[in-house]
Amino acid sequence: MASVANLPLLRQRAYLHGAWVGADDEATFAVISPSTGERLALVPDLGRVETRRAIEAAASAWPAWRDRPAKERAAVLRAWFALITDHRDELAHLMTHESGKVITESLGEVTYGASFVEWFAEEAKRAYGDVIPSPARDRRLVVLRQSIGVVAAITPWNFPLAMITRKVAPALAAGCPVVIKPAAETPLTALALAELADRAGFPPGVFNVVTTAQASAVGLELCEHPLVRKLSFTGSTAVGRTLMAQCAPSLTRLSLELGGNAPFLVFDDADLEAAVRGALAAKYRHAGQTCVCVNRLLVHDDVYDAFVARFTAAVAALRLGDVLDPGTQVGPLISERAVTTVDAHLHDALQHGATVAHGGQRLGGLFYQPTVLTGATSAMRIAQEEVFGPVAAIFRFSNEAEAIAMANDTAFGLAAYVYSRDIGRCWRVAEALEYGMVGVNEGLISTEVAPFGGIKASGMGRESSKYGLDAYLELKYVCFGGIDSV
Ligand code: SIN
Repeated sequence: MASVANLPLLRQRAYLHGAWVGADDEATFAVISPSTGERLALVPDLGRVETRRAIEAAASAWPAWRDRPAKERAAVLRAWFALITDHRDELAHLMTHESGKVITESLGEVTYGASFVEWFAEEAKRAYGDVIPSPARDRRLVVLRQSIGVVAAITPWNFPLAMITRKVAPALAAGCPVVIKPAAETPLTALALAELADRAGFPPGVFNVVTTAQASAVGLELCEHPLVRKLSFTGSTAVGRTLMAQCAPSLTRLSLELGGNAPFLVFDDADLEAAVRGALAAKYRHAGQTCVCVNRLLVHDDVYDAFVARFTAAVAALRLGDVLDPGTQVGPLISERAVTTVDAHLHDALQHGATVAHGGQRLGGLFYQPTVLTGATSAMRIAQEEVFGPVAAIFRFSNEAEAIAMANDTAFGLAAYVYSRDIGRCWRVAEALEYGMVGVNEGLISTEVAPFGGIKASGMGRESSKYGLDAYLELKYVCFGGIDSV
């Protein structure tokens, strides 16, 4: 496989107002491979001043982009979708190099990310308004749905491509220009997307990428600048709270997709083979580094031992190693800090009485063994905090009411999973779970056609699906008076 330097989509400049630019002071920061520790590239370290310029460029591009017929905007999105799809392999390699995501998952992410562009190219043409039956003879009442204005997107390293497209495809479809701040760990995929957006024909200023290692300063500018009308963020709950506070004075609209603490409930009537498959997929995707990854496995007493035995055997068979090898299933964590956090969770659980059924060791570099802990209890940090790594903690429950209470005993509410063959129980439990998304007998639930998002400390707003465009449109009520009868 070609090194990053030989990938034609590698760009090492930021993309502002249709041009490739450096920082005003020529400052740069390094992009490091989590799997090898190698320096992959240097990208511009933009600050507040350049961010302001990007916002102003976007604002100047807004009227013309907004006023283009939806069908024309859709055609540009469609061209971008085709280019992303055509460059699937190269984008996936860039992503794997910079994020440590194993190559099969990166290929899957490109397809997943492209699906949002395709979906919103179609939805662009369906931003219907309403005609309201009038309460008066001489009036006609209509509701228009209009583009909100400049959108800022702050995106995470765990999905370097799909979290960008899930935010910006609906924004662009709605007629909004975008300023993207990708995570400092993974700017290369974002810049490759900008190159393809440029080729697809987005006019200068409509699509901007601000690369930066100064997340706080750039984030503050995106929150405070009066021309930014909407901020969409995916990341930690702590940062989400900061952004919300920073957006309060400007009343900038917010969508927040924050942390989770996903429970995975296995009832005594579950198909255990299916539950093990689902748990494996929902726990070890990207080495446990997704917001919808299982954090707590809650298993009924009567099937606890059988489930633990099968699940542990499946985890022990997972292959770690070279992230570019299609046979590898688990890659490294993103940073030394991530490894330390996972280790701290493990040791806290052990101190509180958990047992290691498999794994539990840090390996070389940023690799951590896929780990299974049994005997987990609510006294452990892992019961309340997102581990964001490959550690599965297995708790016990003895009846449905207890399972629901345990599952809901958290500040978070993003995704939850239930395994049972009893249709009545599936309905009852799905309805009782305080989460934005529930997988019933399914561990991988994300798709462009369904609304993605959480409640409580997991954030606000929904991305993708027929609801996804709403975040980027304002409703305008127009009352036509004086319509006299002849
Ligand atoms: C996330 O972890 O933030 C996104 C996961 C997904 O889209 O499935």
